[in-house]
Amino acid sequence: MDYRALVGKMTLEEKASLMSGENFWYSQSLPQHGIPAIMLTDGPHGLRKQIGDADHLGINGSVPATCFPTAATIANSWDVDLIREMGVVLGTEAAAESISVVLGPGMNIKRDPLSGRNFEYFSEDPYLSGKLSSALIRGMQEKGIAACAKHFAVNSQEYLRMTIDEIVDKRALHELYLESFRMAVQEGKVISMMTSYNKVNGIYTNENDYLLNTVLKKTWGFDGLIVTDWGGNNDRVAGLKAGNQLEMPSTIGVTDLEIVNAVRSGDLEESLLDTRVLELLKVVNKIKPLPAEAADMEAHHEKAVDIASQSMVLLKNKDNCLPLNPKTKVTVIGDFAETPRYQGAGSSSINAYKLDNLLNALDETDIEVVAYAKGFERYGNTKKAVYDKALQAAGQADTLLVFLGLDESYESEGVDRSHLDLPQDQITLINQLTKLNKKIIVLLAGGAVMSLPFINESDACIHTYLAGQGGGKALAKILTGEVNPSGKLSETYPLSYEDVSSAGYFPGKEAISEHRESIFIGYRYFDTKKIPVQFEFGFGLSYTSFTYNHVMFEDNHITLEVTNTGAVGGSDVVQVYVHKKDSPLMRADQELKGFAKVPLQAHEKKRVTIELSDHAFHFYNVETESWAIEEGAYEIRVGSSSRTIHQVIEVTKNGIQAPVTMCNIPKSYKELDIHNISDSDFEALVGYKLPDSNWDRKAPVNLNTSIVETATKGVVGKFVNWIILRMYKNKMKKGEPHAANAILLVQSMPFRTLSRMTGGSINEEMLAGMMMAVDGHFFKGTTKVIKNIPSKKSK
Ligand code: BGC
Repeated sequence: MDYRALVGKMTLEEKASLMSGENFWYSQSLPQHGIPAIMLTDGPHGLRKQIGDADHLGINGSVPATCFPTAATIANSWDVDLIREMGVVLGTEAAAESISVVLGPGMNIKRDPLSGRNFEYFSEDPYLSGKLSSALIRGMQEKGIAACAKHFAVNSQEYLRMTIDEIVDKRALHELYLESFRMAVQEGKVISMMTSYNKVNGIYTNENDYLLNTVLKKTWGFDGLIVTDWGGNNDRVAGLKAGNQLEMPSTIGVTDLEIVNAVRSGDLEESLLDTRVLELLKVVNKIKPLPAEAADMEAHHEKAVDIASQSMVLLKNKDNCLPLNPKTKVTVIGDFAETPRYQGAGSSSINAYKLDNLLNALDETDIEVVAYAKGFERYGNTKKAVYDKALQAAGQADTLLVFLGLDESYESEGVDRSHLDLPQDQITLINQLTKLNKKIIVLLAGGAVMSLPFINESDACIHTYLAGQGGGKALAKILTGEVNPSGKLSETYPLSYEDVSSAGYFPGKEAISEHRESIFIGYRYFDTKKIPVQFEFGFGLSYTSFTYNHVMFEDNHITLEVTNTGAVGGSDVVQVYVHKKDSPLMRADQELKGFAKVPLQAHEKKRVTIELSDHAFHFYNVETESWAIEEGAYEIRVGSSSRTIHQVIEVTKNGIQAPVTMCNIPKSYKELDIHNISDSDFEALVGYKLPDSNWDRKAPVNLNTSIVETATKGVVGKFVNWIILRMYKNKMKKGEPHAANAILLVQSMPFRTLSRMTGGSINEEMLAGMMMAVDGHFFKGTTKVIKNIPSKKSK
């Protein structure tokens, strides 16, 4: 099709109208020009297609779909092929529902274990995250639909996510926060990209010319669709100039008019608008969901079971007490065994087609469940009688399966966690059970790092993460030994939160969030500073054991022979880390640069080839603003976790000498005193003077003032926030954590999104009135709001 000619036939208004949605989930159609609307919908671990009321937080219903394990879970599989297969199934369901763009994968880097959306992201490591999300993307896109990598970039916290300014130095930005997106573009060939809500170094990502035009488009060659996060547009014209083609959802024409006016006033070249329209049309034309095969939901369920079973991590197995012997009598304790915690809350909440639980799944095995007790109240206030019942049940068997975890209130889009602990009632329970002198097998549910104070008192521990609709069956298979666990942690479990490098800097509390720890996050910090951890990155046990022999490096590939030395089949994950010797640069001790999941029968031996990253030996050179290899000696460490290295190979690489200015490492970084980075050392790294970390108390309320910030503006704001907190607490009391968190996240919303996310029910005039009301003009503001409430007729 000659799109240029088509664009030439459109009026300015028509072109502008294509730059935002027709409604909540569809892009704008222009039937007079034969342009269809396409549907974009969540994602990422299943489909959330809404056919009734729409929302971006998973509050209203959606069509039943296969709910796979979340990204935090599948990341533990380290299995590129398996994740591609999950993508194919997802793509099939999407195509069958005529969806063009699935909003996922979510692939932000886990800077801090408390970040509220970690359950939706893959890893603290960009290579692992990039490799696995690329596989998911490729699988999805095989079915003719587009994946949408999100949230580009540095969505490191949920609190104030729509206004926070994430301050990151260029090296951390490229080596950590952008790297997995680069891989999604260059390796995954992702067709669309969603910008994040936050700012990066002072500029909203959606208006960030550096991130979108320079990095994404020019450097990486991305030529797909750039879409805002829902309600994430700040300045429409600036976004368009930076490279965005689509604002979602509909703004009922408000921002289309801004584009039209900008062209008329000469602020925006019409030719640039034409370019964006052309880019959009090319993508719309490229997406062709394959003719709907009727989705085989039972087969998809089995795939979900398989993926979950390959992703669970065996953390402890004293005296090989797992797998359980056939006919073992067990008591099951813990509410999660009956009512599984299998996904997170927010826009990714899938209406699972069906749901397994552990109790039912155990019924299908030869394990004998002699008693079950829920053991604790999910949302607190457990009565003594509930604990007593659990203790009684525990008396009936020598082996206890105790299912603990983070409840629904702990992990939600829009809300960060405030600590790593499990709910206190569960700790009270396990402390009583461990005194009983029974075999205690702890099962865990939850999408993020948690502290495990009972681990020494337990005999075995399996972390299921958030295992999706098939999690119950998958766990039963691991307990019985039908599946040999092969999951490896994709994030580090610290001994205490205080050990985490970003502790003290996270989250940004008002205007900015300072990534003072720079490149030292996760194992990059723990392993460099040699801090003891609970479980290291890449850790996970098996029912068998493996050895590595004949390790060789050639042509950016590692080859080795892996042997299963045990009597049962199983899969190992060979991990390759690269260490630069004697570098004058600021560097992590080692970085993951290759891995392979290797399935082996009992006593089987296999020759394995692992291709290393195209950035295996690189660092980001801030002098030239490009990647470079530092010349000299490197160690290639081959192991089964970041701290269990079996073989080391030394290689020498040609490259450049470490740039002189980069060798001038600020003192606190040189000393790895990461918790005490001074202002001046951090400024030296970011290259500019830090902005004020506080909100400007004197500034008038504006469209970017968040609701929580209004508490600093006077009594009305204080009152509004007080009401929000009361409503939150009420919902929590009623045991409605999803609704409670959805209320809490309103605090993090700026005024501009109130109008955007209500489809115009709160119009611009009402918004202005609200801002007046909290800014010292209560009566004038309220009157303006009331006067502008649209009458039913005008709706
Ligand atoms: C989330 C996105 C999601 C979108 C649409 C936003 O709140 O940040 O990840 O795709 O809503 O539901």
